Amino acid sequence: MQTKNFAILEKRTLASRIVLFRIKAPLIARKCQPGQFVILRLNEKGERIPLTISEYNREEGTITIVVQDAGRTTHELSLMEEGETIEDILGPLGRPTDIKKVGTVVGVGGGVGVALLYPEIKAYKEVGNRVISLIGAQNKDLLFFQDKIEAVSDKVIYSTDDGSFGYHGFVTELLKEILEKGEEKISEVIAIGPIPMMRVVAEITRPYKVKTIVSLNPIMVDGTGMCGSCRVKVGGQTKFACVDGPEFDAHLVDFDGLMKRQKRFLEEEKISLQYQQRG
Ligand SMILES: Cc1cc2nc3c(=O)[nH]c(=O)nc-3n(C[C@H](O)[C@H](O)[C@H](O)COP(=O)(O)OP(=O)(O)OC[C@H]3O[C@@H](n4cnc5c(N)ncnc54)[C@H](O)[C@@H]3O)c2cc1C
Ligand code: FES
Repeated sequence: MQTKNFAILEKRTLASRIVLFRIKAPLIARKCQPGQFVILRLNEKGERIPLTISEYNREEGTITIVVQDAGRTTHELSLMEEGETIEDILGPLGRPTDIKKVGTVVGVGGGVGVALLYPEIKAYKEVGNRVISLIGAQNKDLLFFQDKIEAVSDKVIYSTDDGSFGYHGFVTELLKEILEKGEEKISEVIAIGPIPMMRVVAEITRPYKVKTIVSLNPIMVDGTGMCGSCRVKVGGQTKFACVDGPEFDAHLVDFDGLMKRQKRFLEEEKISLQYQQRG
């Protein structure tokens, strides 16, 4: 685990409010695996937020994170520039994805979830699976990583909610169509995106009994299984997403409970953002 001195080597805006950072973090880069994340703190007084390791380069000693400006800390981070340093980054955290050769894997990515899906489908491809990627965004200006996704997929289908690129509709409808047509056996589905999207994916694959993995994003604080903040019910049992996940069997996740817990600090988050805007 590495916790100090993290220089931003590269910053790139991928889409509106979505920014990529390549950060010097040799000890994390040496150990991390697809599916793992870090918890970072921008400065001494900052809050701790979890972000997935989207790419890593062991030789260069760097990790790449992709951040959506969603509130106070992600906004502050998105304003940071190359050459600046992040106070501390803890990781790698969470269990790596269990990647095996299973046949055909469908990756479903929505919004910033596409950056989190990328290392997973890359790893699925590397062990010899056929990979079909279904990539959704609200509109064409919010699509990013197309070149990367296409490089590690046998087939990619895009959707936008407004029809400005690819299929006009939700990405989950593409998955439904593939399963309904039944033209090829789907061995596994992995879905990463907003909770409502992952929940719909779980309901689509359930009747077909296709193994389905989702990457959950409950509110995390310590990231070590001690504070209980990230607890979720999976198969009727309490799990801590930071140490038991963040990936779980979608058919066992209590999405209702997860959504409720995700909203529990909405008032505080609004106030925090207002203070920041007032400077
Ligand atoms: C394992 C994991 C991996 C993640 N990976 C990414 C990623 O790669 N890229 C990305 O853009 N986002 C990722 N997220 C979500 C990201 O952590 C939140 O967007 C961020 O914490 C919001 O903080 P804020 O202060 O900017 O916004 P706030 O205004 O504080 O919150 C905005 C929303 O973000 C969520 N959130 C707030 N605090 C936390 C927290 N401590 N932990 C988790 N969720 C929180 C809540 O749903 C909240 O309503 C991940 C979350 C988890 C749990
Ligand atoms: S974040 Fe504290 S138990 Fe998971």
